[in-house]
Amino acid sequence: MHFTHSLTAALALGGSALASPTEKRVTVGLSKAMRQRGRSFIGTALTLRDDAQELAIVENKADFNSITPENAQKWESTEPTQGNFTFEDSDRYVDFATDHRYQIHCHNLVWHSQLPDWVVNGGFDNETLIEVMHDHIKALAGRYKGRCTRWDVVNEALEEDGTYRKSVWYNTIGEAFLPLAFKFASQVDPKAQLFYNDYNLEYNGAKTDGAQRIVKLIQSHGVKINGVGFRAHMTSEPTTSSGGGVTPSQQVLSAALRRMTSQDVDVAYTEIDVRMNLPATQKKLNVQAKVYQRIAASCLAVERCIGMTIWGVSDKYSWIPAVFDGEGAANLWDEDFKKKPAYAGFLRGIHQGGNNGASL
Ligand code: XIL
Repeated sequence: MHFTHSLTAALALGGSALASPTEKRVTVGLSKAMRQRGRSFIGTALTLRDDAQELAIVENKADFNSITPENAQKWESTEPTQGNFTFEDSDRYVDFATDHRYQIHCHNLVWHSQLPDWVVNGGFDNETLIEVMHDHIKALAGRYKGRCTRWDVVNEALEEDGTYRKSVWYNTIGEAFLPLAFKFASQVDPKAQLFYNDYNLEYNGAKTDGAQRIVKLIQSHGVKINGVGFRAHMTSEPTTSSGGGVTPSQQVLSAALRRMTSQDVDVAYTEIDVRMNLPATQKKLNVQAKVYQRIAASCLAVERCIGMTIWGVSDKYSWIPAVFDGEGAANLWDEDFKKKPAYAGFLRGIHQGGNNGASL
């Protein structure tokens, strides 16, 4: 147990979401608490822009020790036309991590989205598309060799039913694109931890089966894969985009994570946010706090869950409202950069999760 005196006092008060007087007593930040529990990191997605308030939150080392560039390393940003590599923006994030002594979860090498038209409709065949992929990985992962803590090597290769997504990668190369991408990445940057990253793996259903199959496939080729990233774009209540579902119980979340760790890979939550139907109410924010708490607790209950990244700090800049109509308020800080009940809930999950098999 690593509880500080003040936190023990706060926990003794118990109750649902921590009220503000209690919250003040919890002085240990997110990443500090995570590292006290023997895990590696708490991160946030980052877009560098002119906002001192947002930056101050990200720069608080008690809360964060990792970043994920929100968009800067995607294919459309780094190779907009073939062989024309544009790394200026991406460099700023890698330098930010170095300057702040933060880890960096580099994101990402192979994905069907934010992928320029020259790749999607370039008429490449099996051989030439492998070459395109190899050139991109060589250039992008090669530029940051030794500096990316982790790489999302392949992002979103699965459909909801657990079959392969019919992307240009799969349609042209077949499932071999997965071990190939991991092989290229491990050759280019042997030190980086290589991750497969996807969403809706948290329900321990057909898509979770699919991710487990991917891990086995890559391993069966003798190729290195270090981890699986669970995005955790979740909801605290049924919404149109959630199809009526909500974040599963802590037991289901942990069971899904263990499906991967049983294959001898690490796991991490890589893009956590918990959206709701707008407008948010105090009651809904308290429910959201509990969801954040059980997500954190599910990670702490699994030994090889090495860290968690939230997808941005403030609701002000969250990607959710633009993509999921009428939904939002998904982050730990509100639009005015005030901590929401979810912050205390998340912190409490980090402190308590997995202790004595306690279920939250
Ligand atoms: C999102 C960004 O947050 C937005 O700014 C951008 O417009 C679209 O992409 N899964 C991922 C992330 O892996 O890269 C996505 O990020 C969110 C969903």
